[in-house]
Amino acid sequence: MQSSILNQSIRLNNGVEMPVFGLGVWKTKSGNECVEAVNWALEAGYRHIDTAKIYGNESDVGRAIRESGIPRDELFITTKLWNGDQKNPRKAIEESLKSLGLDRVDLYLIHFPVGSTRKQAWKELEKFYKEGLARAIGVSNYMIPHLQELFEYAEITPTVNQVEYHPFLNQNELLNTCKKNNIVLEAYSPLAHGQRVSDAKLLDIAKKYGKTPAQILIRWAIDKGMVVIPKSVRKERILENSQVFDFKLSQEDLNEIETWNENFRTCWDPTGA
Ligand SMILES: NC(=O)c1ccc[n+]([C@@H]2O[C@H](COP(=O)([O-])OP(=O)(O)OC[C@H]3O[C@@H](n4cnc5c(N)ncnc54)[C@H](OP(=O)(O)O)[C@@H]3O)[C@@H](O)[C@H]2O)c1
Repeated sequence: MQSSILNQSIRLNNGVEMPVFGLGVWKTKSGNECVEAVNWALEAGYRHIDTAKIYGNESDVGRAIRESGIPRDELFITTKLWNGDQKNPRKAIEESLKSLGLDRVDLYLIHFPVGSTRKQAWKELEKFYKEGLARAIGVSNYMIPHLQELFEYAEITPTVNQVEYHPFLNQNELLNTCKKNNIVLEAYSPLAHGQRVSDAKLLDIAKKYGKTPAQILIRWAIDKGMVVIPKSVRKERILENSQVFDFKLSQEDLNEIETWNENFRTCWDPTGA
């Protein structure tokens, strides 16, 4: 029951269904820490895991999903092409698939729009999609100018743009550009990397709903039509972060949260890349 709720999905522009909620594993240490976090998430009903080659834990994600016994087609696994690999994406995706122990990923993303190599990298990802190595392809950290440039040479429109997004970095113009072009915006660092969970305004709203600040931030992302991938290595938080499908934020509170933007970035700034 829980897993079917957590499996609420959004249809990508190529028809693939992507769960709107998943576990991020950046900074989750390779070894027991990552295997346990993914195990706990799968037990709690998560079916979507977001990793990357540079996180150094693809093999742990692979181990955990194998050991879970959950059928492969019930899982949604994302990994990413690292910057230094953009000159040879084929070698990189082969290494990622080997580490994950998979013959294809559900989503393969260009991790960052490196100016000198992003075009050739996208053309390679298009081949991987056609060959079935990835059920969907997309980008990450693409701002509006990067997307506009990509539209000039892309044969295949990205399905997803994964960017930092939370109420304190509320990039509505980018979100609208993605929506207009049928690209799903996937919110990374949705908890502002854990740095704003004690914000007084957020605590007030959390109290009102009997929810935690993290749950409000995750629900907000879902209510805005985004995909959201909070990270935790703690069992109780992994569970807590998943308990966001039994409430919705009122229009009044959504409007209030819209006033919180501070352009507060916790991760890298792709503007100008
Ligand atoms: N494409 C990219 O360039 C990019 C960049 C950044 C992130 N991402 C992806 O997005 C995922 C999420 O982003 P993120 O890891 O930067 O940050 P996040 O999910 O916004 O926040 C994670 C931090 O919040 C803490 N936390 C988790 N649940 C909590 C809760 N319920 N209450 C209070 N604190 C909580 C975590 O600590 P504990 O682990 O100790 O619980 C951790 O320190 C990443 O793991 C990665 O998959 C992608």
